[in-house]
Amino acid sequence: MPHSIADHPHPEMLHDDVAGVARAAEVLRGGGLLALPTETVYGLAADARNPQAVARIFEAKGRPRFNPLIVHVASVDQVEELAEVTPVARKLAEAFWPGAMTLVLPSRGKVADLVGGGLDTLAVRIPAHPLARKVLEAFGGPVAAPSANPSGRVSPTKAAHVADSLGSKVDAILDGGSCTVGLESTILAPDLRAVRLLREGGIAREAIEAVVGPLATDLTPGRVEAPGQMERHYATQMPLVVGGEARSGDLVIGFGSAPGDLTLSAKGDLLEAAANLFSVLHDADRLAMARGAERIRVTDIPEIGLGRAINDRLRRAAFQANQ
Ligand code: TXA
Ligand code: MG
Repeated sequence: MPHSIADHPHPEMLHDDVAGVARAAEVLRGGGLLALPTETVYGLAADARNPQAVARIFEAKGRPRFNPLIVHVASVDQVEELAEVTPVARKLAEAFWPGAMTLVLPSRGKVADLVGGGLDTLAVRIPAHPLARKVLEAFGGPVAAPSANPSGRVSPTKAAHVADSLGSKVDAILDGGSCTVGLESTILAPDLRAVRLLREGGIAREAIEAVVGPLATDLTPGRVEAPGQMERHYATQMPLVVGGEARSGDLVIGFGSAPGDLTLSAKGDLLEAAANLFSVLHDADRLAMARGAERIRVTDIPEIGLGRAINDRLRRAAFQANQ
């Protein structure tokens, strides 16, 4: 099926209807790039079995080649075709799929080599977003999808975020509204002796530990387990700092009773803050530039539940500014 990025200087906008789902599956079948909504963030999706299509993901994001991708499917049967589902993995799958959890499992080598970045494991997820599920079912195969943002920048939680940052590089954008979780998936490696937490994310550590017991964490700085966990990530255009005294030139993002020009959650609700995080960072960038602010300052967030994943993203966003 002829399908070339050069034919589409502007992406095709698709909607949450039968025609949108059918066209989205067709774009994937044709080796195209599709911005796909999931409950965590929008993904930049391509057929995981098609090496050229996968290569285009890296090219569009400007992403380092060594950084492997998450593969999305609609069912545990499909996961089993791609990877070995160990007993602990099955327990986790039953508890958290479909949902904001990615499992790193022994790969069966069924996807393009570029997807795994040379590792013998594969990261897989069954997303819960109804529209994503319809597309995955209509397409029928494995879909590789990193977050749909240029490498290192803030992740997209609305179709407009994708259109603004990657618009000319994707063939189609499927608009599924705002992402309800708003943080990337929690990444786990269920090994024989322990389940290792590779990335904090949309499912809180406490919820996972209630199912499989204490997690092993090896998030030692400098030792990068999930290769995409580079220190500088989620960067706003404007320097960002976390906590500290407000100063002139600040554009402040508040939380709970701490006021701000914008807020993550006026109620101090971590679930709401997670869902708002990336959208508020996108807005803060725009507002800071419009006002001539010098930096974005985010109020401290408590380090519990989803607060851990929110703080992880904020620390990485702030990394540059603190150098
Ligand atoms: O919620 C999400 O996870 C979103 C949506 C679109 O599903 N995707 C996402 O993908 O955040 P991305 O590419 O931005 O992050 C994937 C992370 C990276 O840190 C990568 O290094 C890690 O997954 N990863 C992928 N395969 C891996 C593997 N075999 N072993 C360890 N880490 C892996
Ligand atoms: Mg990402």
